[in-house]
Amino acid sequence: MKYPLSILSEEHEHILKNLDSLENVLKTIESGGLNQKIIEELKRISENFLEADKHHKKEEDALFPLLQRHGIVEPCKVMRAEHEELRKRKRELRKLAEQKNLPESFKIKEAGSFILDVLRNHIDREENVLFSMAAQILSENELKEMKRMMDRIGYCSFNPLE
Ligand SMILES: [Fe+2]
Ligand SMILES: [Fe+2]
Repeated sequence: MKYPLSILSEEHEHILKNLDSLENVLKTIESGGLNQKIIEELKRISENFLEADKHHKKEEDALFPLLQRHGIVEPCKVMRAEHEELRKRKRELRKLAEQKNLPESFKIKEAGSFILDVLRNHIDREENVLFSMAAQILSENELKEMKRMMDRIGYCSFNPLE
């Protein structure tokens, strides 16, 4: 993937790993393994998801405006709406992981499965459609502009740039 789109792709790799961890936690809960240790793991996972907000913000403020300039409007609108919905669910998941008593497993399952399905699909479309289009249509100057904007927003702790 062309630089600096490659940075966003690298962040996707980290997010996908976190999704795998979430899937494992959901499977454990499904088979009746809900306990404090699993909740600790869920807390760690939900912190990682919230840390990835910076990734979505970089897409929203550094990439989508450039694509929109090239007439790619609707897909960016859809992606923004999904980010918004995912932010809500990620906060919900952290709240469940942080509550004093063991949360009800169906609530974890509900928020968790949503994040799992929507975010995996979302990343897949970004990688295979949006980023590929961006790599083709953005000029060298636009890619530089994108990188400057990304620097201003900052990077995720799981994928520091330096
Ligand atoms: Fe996105
Ligand atoms: Fe993304």
